[in-house]
Amino acid sequence: MDRFSELVEKRRLTEVPPEDFAKKIHEQGRLTAHERLERLLDKGSFVPIARFIQHRATGFGMESRKVFGDGVVAGLGSIDGRRVAVYAQDFSFMGGSVGEMHAYKIARTIETALKLGIPVIGLNDSGGARIQEGVDSLKGYGEIFYRNVMASGVIPQIVAIMGPAAGGAVYSPALADFIVMTKKSYMFITGPKVVKASIGEDVTFEELGGAEIHATKSGVAHFLAEDDDHAIRIIKALLSYLPSNNTEDPPYAETGDDPFREDSELDGLVPEDPVKPYDVKEVINRVFDKGSFLEVHAHFATNAVVGFARLGGFPVCVVANQPAVSAGCLDIDSSDKIARFVTFCDSFNFPIITFVDVPGFLPGTYQEHGGVIRHGAKIIYAYADATTPKITVILRKAYGGAYIAMGSKHLGADYVLAWPTAEIAVMGPREAIEIIYKRELEKAANPEELAKEFEEKYRKEITTPYFAASRGYVDDIVFPRETRSYIYKALMFLRDKREKHPRPPRKHGVPPV
Ligand code: HXC
Repeated sequence: MDRFSELVEKRRLTEVPPEDFAKKIHEQGRLTAHERLERLLDKGSFVPIARFIQHRATGFGMESRKVFGDGVVAGLGSIDGRRVAVYAQDFSFMGGSVGEMHAYKIARTIETALKLGIPVIGLNDSGGARIQEGVDSLKGYGEIFYRNVMASGVIPQIVAIMGPAAGGAVYSPALADFIVMTKKSYMFITGPKVVKASIGEDVTFEELGGAEIHATKSGVAHFLAEDDDHAIRIIKALLSYLPSNNTEDPPYAETGDDPFREDSELDGLVPEDPVKPYDVKEVINRVFDKGSFLEVHAHFATNAVVGFARLGGFPVCVVANQPAVSAGCLDIDSSDKIARFVTFCDSFNFPIITFVDVPGFLPGTYQEHGGVIRHGAKIIYAYADATTPKITVILRKAYGGAYIAMGSKHLGADYVLAWPTAEIAVMGPREAIEIIYKRELEKAANPEELAKEFEEKYRKEITTPYFAASRGYVDDIVFPRETRSYIYKALMFLRDKREKHPRPPRKHGVPPV
């Protein structure tokens, strides 16, 4: 074989998986590593890294089990014209397991992305640490994790799980910023067999670590995809909001939606009755550019809503309480969801727009024993730590610690608006008057009537947004229909915000993780 033919043949081997494997994976409604990359990247843009790499393990028959690439395709490419670094694990070789060289390629991909200041995207499909390579595969994982951490807050890291992510395979995604899981994928530290052997529990793959569990219950997955193609569409949509690195602003895109457009439907959205729910997503969809809201963690901790949107074409982060679920109460999971998102958004220079309608933190032993104190503290830490423009709109309830936590002026919000329906106080009227007028109510001949009277007085004098506004904690009270234009004007002023008060030098804070 002459040298050119040899190259042609060897290249073919790096690009085409074994036929029986491709057939099997297609039957499962999944794609091969190369097919995934072809769909993700702009045509012809892929530049491979370490294409012909092979493992150098010996023993356990490893000498005779070698392929070019060692089970992972990695390199640089572009998505909608923007440069990215990518890797895709190839399950056809030893179940995408991570040996020394496989890990080296992934670590180098992340390192290259960091040097170039471009996002890194992983398409994962792996049985975890390659057992035959022993500590060399653990070393490899350690080196990947180290680079994930170095890249954190510098370049966006997105991982799609498109098959198994077992054992060590879970931690690199967990250290990334966003995880997309396809419905055919699963993630767990120890599989059903080990679970059965160690604690006697019978559980299926899906029940243990299926995509739906991680998207709804554990919160490990930020996005749930129907299949590989859908996951790729989600990655592209997400990327369209993200800057390439932390020195850039998130990318502007023309949306054709007038930032000064008023929406009179908003005026009637909050019900007269303060205990009646409404869907805060309707507020979000009406305030931001039409069709621009990309929800993150849509199925997890649904008493809070977070996601990306555009206003006059500029990307923003949106955080909101959801009165339609558990009255919008904050709890352990929603605290984690909000705090993590705020921290991400601050790292990558997104203005944070917060919509508040929160009666407080969820009470009870389940929450207290689960550590709602330290979880709730994460929200406070994240907002106070964030130096990006912070704009808060109080729609209705803003009570107690939850008022402070949800991007209040006191944690450094740059601009706070309230709707006339806002209620801001230490606690709600009924709870408040039952404490401060306890004796009067006990003695009263008509306690219910008197309670209503006190409640009315409390609303007029204490919870009214004009009280908070008289202290300067609320900058303006606006008609709901004007919210979009007010936020836009504030955003335009805050675009070049520099945090005024330099903070004391420190290595880093100690957040309540
Ligand atoms: C070596 C592996 C492997 C691994 C799979 N394979 N996982 N080889 N190391 N970790 C190989 C299989 O031997 C098989 O090789 C091929 O990949 C396909 O695997 P199958 O089992 O046939 O596929 P499937 O039925 O789809 O099952 C997939 C699977 C299963 C559920 C992922 O393979 C599995 O349970 N693997 C082990 C998962 C695991 O426990 N990982 C944790 C490792 S410990 P052949 O030769 O038949 O093609 C770990 C800790 C690191 O990761 C901690 C670091 C922080």
